[in-house]
Amino acid sequence: PSILVLNGPNLGRLGSREPEVYGSGTLEDLRAELSEAAPPGYDLDLRQTDDEAELISWLHEAVDRGCPVILNPAAFTHYSYGLRDAAALVSKAGLILIEVHISNPHSREAFRHTSVISGVATGIIAGFGFDSYRLAIRAIDLKLG
Ligand code: DQA
Repeated sequence: PSILVLNGPNLGRLGSREPEVYGSGTLEDLRAELSEAAPPGYDLDLRQTDDEAELISWLHEAVDRGCPVILNPAAFTHYSYGLRDAAALVSKAGLILIEVHISNPHSREAFRHTSVISGVATGIIAGFGFDSYRLAIRAIDLKLG
């Protein structure tokens, strides 16, 4: 099976978007960094969209296919109840869902201190740059192993 690595709005701009916050690596650099990191028997399927409906449909797909999910909801983190309800479907299906952030939202503006996703996530990893994703893969590996 796949591990879906799902990225929300503006993360397609990594590399040029606020490099002092998110680093200078692009989404393609992230893909390359993670390509070898899947646990045995799994492959990584990394996707990005700016579209809330598309992101929700990918969570539905995870439920239907039984895939664990690494989700960087980006700005949707802070206000999308639609995305939260879709994320709840994933964890209710008994699938691992890890919320990741490149930055540490708690050290930034107040509106970033709230996540409507965290309450339905299996766990949260934030603040380690691209390594947040690597750590999430490790966590899935530990859980599934
Ligand atoms: C982010 C943090 C969010 O607050 C922000 O809206 C993003 C990226 C992160 O990975 O650090 O777009 O999810």
